[in-house]
Amino acid sequence: MPLLAFETSCDETSAAVVSNGRVLSSIVSSQVKLHAEYGGVVPELAAREHIRNLLPVATEALREAECPIGEVSALAATAGPGLPSALMVGLKAAQALAFSLRKPFVALHHHEAHLYSPWISGSPPRAHFEDFEPNVSLIVSGGHTMLVHVTDTQTHLVLGGTLDDAAGECFDKVGKLLGLPYPAGPEVDRLAKKGKADAFDFPRPMLTDSGHDFSFSGLKTSIRYFVRDRPGLLDDSQALCDLCASVQAAIVEVLVAKTIRAARQRSVGCITASGGVTCNSALRRALSLEAAHQGFRLHIAEPRFCTDNAAMIGVLAEHRLGCGVEGSSLDEDIRPSWPLE
Ligand code: KG4
Ligand code: ZN
Repeated sequence: MPLLAFETSCDETSAAVVSNGRVLSSIVSSQVKLHAEYGGVVPELAAREHIRNLLPVATEALREAECPIGEVSALAATAGPGLPSALMVGLKAAQALAFSLRKPFVALHHHEAHLYSPWISGSPPRAHFEDFEPNVSLIVSGGHTMLVHVTDTQTHLVLGGTLDDAAGECFDKVGKLLGLPYPAGPEVDRLAKKGKADAFDFPRPMLTDSGHDFSFSGLKTSIRYFVRDRPGLLDDSQALCDLCASVQAAIVEVLVAKTIRAARQRSVGCITASGGVTCNSALRRALSLEAAHQGFRLHIAEPRFCTDNAAMIGVLAEHRLGCGVEGSSLDEDIRPSWPLE
């Protein structure tokens, strides 16, 4: 029976229809161009854009899934964490639909949905929860860098997180210092392919620290001084590519080494990864190589499910209902700062 899910926690308006673990449609309308001129997401603009986009996006998701609204059997939406006014749009729309259709409603934690997005794969995409096994999961996006021990499909232990900037934020801020447009992560990735990763030696913050936390603001600062002390460096296009490759190598080395170490310490056989930064080609390659080398099974979310999307909300909500978990209240409010545990 089809479930309609919404995700509006930040700057992507997304709707998806899922049924029996299959993603029948997944529509994402990104606001990235709207926020680019401000160099970051402007919460009030994001919320207004969600209001404008949600109905067309939901209509498109239903059309693509060939599912009339009357056939929807359940609704789901992200309740948090995220931007309050942005969360409000998707959550309240899903609750209103659930009320009028008299169907169950599920409010989900955004990061919890990211934890399960690596299990969605194939064409057409399906959630392979039958393959689920305890894992250590890296969630790495513009707002978060977290390592989580997922012991079963309902239990999560946060091992560590960032003490300052998230990895995606670091990509974006470093890119800005290098004169690249927001969000700079994909552009750094693109330019790095033409550069040498060992051209410049940047710090690997907290690489040898025995804990599971991250810190990326020092790396950003060291690049600021590096560029400041070399006037004209950025006018050299090869140097720019070398800089991108070297910064990317520093971020990727820390993410991969700490993820592998956490997996070994927690004695799991499986590693998963998700979030926008997981689109990074060097991270995907390094994590794949190192996981294979160390004997871990690896599930990295497919790029279309790495960034924020309603499909991951939909498959997890359906799984929850299938496990007999009761739906959420239609009065449930947004939870902008909702701890994962
Ligand atoms: O998960 P996401 O879409 O949104 C949230 O932050 O929740 O992640 C966006 C982040 C941005 O910081 C963006 O620069 C980064 O993911 N990103 C990348 C790449 N693609 C997206 N960073 C590095 N390389 C990429 N290819
Ligand atoms: Zn996200």
